[in-house]
Order: sequence, then C-alpha cells, then structure tokens
Amino acid sequence: MLAAPLAPAATFAQGWAAERYQVEDRKSGYLYLGDQTQALQDDDFLNHAFFAVERGAELWSAVDGAAGVSCASCHGDAAESMRGVTARLPRYDSERDGIINLELLINRERERKLKAEPYAYESEDLLALTAFLAFQSRGIPSEVEIGGAAAPFFEKGREHYFPRRGQLDLSCTQCHDERDGMMLRGDRMSQGQTNGFPFYRLSWHSMGSTHRMFAWCNNAMRAEPYAPASEEYLNLELYVAWRGRGLPIEAPAVRR
Ligand code: HEC
Ligand code: HEC
Repeated sequence: MLAAPLAPAATFAQGWAAERYQVEDRKSGYLYLGDQTQALQDDDFLNHAFFAVERGAELWSAVDGAAGVSCASCHGDAAESMRGVTARLPRYDSERDGIINLELLINRERERKLKAEPYAYESEDLLALTAFLAFQSRGIPSEVEIGGAAAPFFEKGREHYFPRRGQLDLSCTQCHDERDGMMLRGDRMSQGQTNGFPFYRLSWHSMGSTHRMFAWCNNAMRAEPYAPASEEYLNLELYVAWRGRGLPIEAPAVRR
C-alpha cells in the first residue's frame, strides 16, 4: 500500500474544489470524464497512477550510479525541494538552446549528478519519477515562461498546433477547440490540456507522457508522429502548457 509520506495526499484530494478544474475558459480533461473515471482520479488509493508515484518515491531515495548518491542525498524531501518545479515546466534551457521538460531534466540529473545511465523515454522508471515529481506540484497553477529566449521556440510550438496535417487534413485546434465537448469514437473531446501528465490512461492500461499523447493524436490525424523528446514535441509542449495557463497541476491524472 501507500508509503507513509504519501498518505496526506488522500486528504488533499478530498479538499480539491470543483472550480479548480476550470480557469476562465480553460478546462481540465477531468471535466470531460464520466463519473466513474473521475472517482478513480479523486481517490489516491484507487488512482492507478499512484503505483507509479510510489515507485517514483523509491527511485528518488535509491542510490544509483557511479557517484554513489541518490536524488534525495542532495534534494532531501521532494515535498519541499520539488514543490512548484513542474508548474514552471517546460522551459527554455541555455545549455540546450532549446526547451527542456521534466523528463529530460530528470535524465540530465541522473547523468551528471548520479553518474548513472539516463532512463529510456517512456520507460516505467522515467514515468514513475516524473509522476512523483509532478505530484509534488499538485494544486499549483501552471505558469510557463514564454518570453525572452523562449519566444522563438514557443512560436514554433504554436505553429505546430494550428496548421492542418496528415491524411485527414486536421489540426490540433479543429479537435481540441472547435470540437470541444463533442464525442469521437467513445471519447468526449477535451481541450487537450497537459496539467494532468504524466497520467494513467485506462485504454492504454499504463502510464503515459505528454509526448506519447501527442504521438497518439498525430496518429489519430493520420499524420506522421515525431519522436518523443524531439524538438518538435518540446516546443509543442511549451505552447500547450501556456494554452492551459493557470490550470492547477493535477498529476497524476486518470483518463479514459
Ligand atoms: C482527430 C481529433 C484529434 C486531433 C486532431 C488531436 N487530438 Fe488530441 N485528443 C483527441 C482525443 C479523442 C483525445 C482523448 C480524449 C480527450 O482528452 O480529449 C485527445 C487527448 C489529448 C490530450 C490529453 C488531454 C487530457 O486531459 O488528458 C492532449 C494533451 C492532446 N490531445 C493534445 C493534442 C495536440 C497537441 C494535437 C495536435 C498535434 C492534438 N491533440 C490533435 C483527439 C484529437
Ligand atoms: C549532487 C547533488 C545532486 C543530486 C544527486 C541531484 N541533484 Fe538535482 N539539482 C542539484 C542542484 C545543485 C540543482 C540546481 C542547479 C543545477 O541545475 O545543477 C539541481 C536541480 C534539479 C532540478 C531543477 C529544479 C528547478 O528548480 O528547476 C530538478 C528537477 C532536479 N535537480 C532533479 C533531480 C533528480 C530527479 C535527481 C536524481 C536523479 C537529482 N536531481 C539529483 C543537485 C543534485
């Protein structure tokens, strides 16, 4: 069952007011779920994604790599040191001269500080540590920086969102803005917000990252998906996070 440090989360979930799922006209995917799926997300003890959070908590404190340290050796209690970090991601990173997200930050810390191998993108361990860290920002409004050095990358992300692409000649905006709330093959179309990631998707029977969802949507449009961690998806992740600005981090969410 849940490790002791996570237990207070259950009380927190129960105090999560309904209006937290909408900010102005921006709505969390939670509001489009059926009652049963909402109930799964509402209860940290039923929420499938909490297996990943628990595993992430273990990885946080596990010594790994040639340096002989763990994340916790330097950062201590993640509830304090990592609170709010996810709400400001993704962001511009001068070393990459591009956008960095939570997954890539975790892997960079593994390589540099632990002297350990990076996790494969979309691996169970990377999803677990991502879920654990994102969970530390639960309830904090997402607020990403799009000005300054981030601006050209933000523009590229916006340029992915609006044009039609693929054999069906569809754009992100045609489904997630124009068809907001309509049914598509058993799914109620949401606004495609990212404040719940990484999430547990019932139809996948697994956790999934933002980039896996982007690839799934690209496939739904019959468009060639990009690779996870590609510049294309990192820029798109920044644009989509800004589009949902103010929505509180809800990770780890449950979706259909
Ligand atoms: C053919 C319609 C369609 C298109 C086009 C489409 N999506 Fe989606 N998208 C879906 C469906 C269906 C779902 C699952 C139900 C839901 O959450 O809306 C989804 C879910 C999502 C989610 C998860 C939302 C949540 O709350 O969990 C994100 C993020 C997303 N889409 C982003 C995008 C982006 C970015 C694009 C453009 C590259 C895009 N989608 C294009 C149909 C589409
Ligand atoms: C040797 C000490 C050390 C270890 C071990 C370490 N970190 Fe860090 N971490 C730092 C320092 C110092 C910074 C801030 C400056 C920098 O980026 O190096 C940082 C920054 C971060 C940030 C960015 C925080 C922010 O406010 O944007 C994240 C996320 C992070 N670390 C996660 C991890 C994870 C996950 C691990 C384990 C895989 C880890 N760290 C291991 C020292 C460490």
